[in-house]
Amino acid sequence: GTAGKTITCQAAIAWEKNSISIEEVQVEPPKAGEVRIKMVSSGICGSDDHVLKGELPMNFPLIPGHEGAGIVETVGDGVSSVKPGDKVLTLIVPQCRECDACLHSKGNFCDKQDVLPCSGTMLDGTCRFSCKGQKVYHSFRTSTFTEYTVVPEIAVVKIDDAAPMDKVCLIGCGVPTGYGAAVNSAKVTPGSTCVVFGLGGVGSAVVLGCKASGASRIIGVDINEKKFPWARALGVTDCLNPKKLKKPVHEVVMEMTGVGADFAFEVIGHTETMLAAWNSCNYSYGVCLIIGLAPLDSQLCLEASKIVSGKTLKGVCLGDYKTRDCIPQLVTDYLQNKINIDPLITHQLPFDKLHKALELYHTGKTVRCVLLF
Ligand code: APR
Ligand code: ZN
Repeated sequence: GTAGKTITCQAAIAWEKNSISIEEVQVEPPKAGEVRIKMVSSGICGSDDHVLKGELPMNFPLIPGHEGAGIVETVGDGVSSVKPGDKVLTLIVPQCRECDACLHSKGNFCDKQDVLPCSGTMLDGTCRFSCKGQKVYHSFRTSTFTEYTVVPEIAVVKIDDAAPMDKVCLIGCGVPTGYGAAVNSAKVTPGSTCVVFGLGGVGSAVVLGCKASGASRIIGVDINEKKFPWARALGVTDCLNPKKLKKPVHEVVMEMTGVGADFAFEVIGHTETMLAAWNSCNYSYGVCLIIGLAPLDSQLCLEASKIVSGKTLKGVCLGDYKTRDCIPQLVTDYLQNKINIDPLITHQLPFDKLHKALELYHTGKTVRCVLLF
């Protein structure tokens, strides 16, 4: 077997921004508290695109990807929550169960996360990947665009043995991020009006959550009209393309609703659309959730006097779920037909077609494309 040995396999390496290729890499065995995983599938998420474009300060070369499903190959000393052969998901936000956020009843942004800021290492500051003798960094402590990866135990969760592994990778990130923002964080109410800015993989999961919560009107906003038929199929009732409107989109939402939206979600990561979402909300009781990751040096500037009227601005990460506690239940809900993630997966491609998959993503032809190993 491969236990205790370095594995040589194929992985995608981002050498610098906008430069990615599939290479032969070496993957070291897991150290104490770590898990080595044979990947089965990985989604391509908007956050990976931020990484590939160099929008987050990260150490290159690195192996991208975080929305992964796989099977545990081996575990390091002291690992107790997973064992070889288990089906698992990788978690961009871990749950250490020791830090302030993990111990607080409402917190989920674990201190051990590696998104803000990104070190690109394991918890001990070292890396498990190399290529041609050169050290290769991790991304978000996950790295899933690889046949094998090593992840801290706190960033892995065991899921139901019956889970279809070519699909459930989305439940590692996009589904809890979007669906959870609507049902768990915003707690969208029956009969409400929602507006969702960005109809990509995560925005579509928000739509699923709004629909499941009984929203009666769901306005979808995107500059790419190719997303509209998919969005309508998920439950979006009105589609708006800001580029084709004669007025700012928030004014159009105000006119359409008369009083503004009950809930607005920003799922793009631009400050302009965050402001548009905020300005689309009802002045008194509207709730605006920011899900998109804005560029690190950007600032959000709001009209300060208008906040006193009562509206809420809230950031949300991974749907406010404590990840290891809550994500397995979402897989079970999917298996029991309580959530249907299938419509979010518009494309599945073998890993060696990575460049084709990235092209589909960049030309806006997908909701979610899943890589299969
Ligand atoms: N106005 C409206 N829609 C826009 C705009 C804009 N100015 N710019 C981009 N979009 C749309 C794109 O056309 C696309 O449909 O936003 C959508 C983004 O979707 P994806 O690229 O699939 O990204 P996704 O994985 O959904 O993530 C979105 O959420 O979790 C965060 O880090 C993630 O910031 C990212 C965001
Ligand atoms: Zn993600």
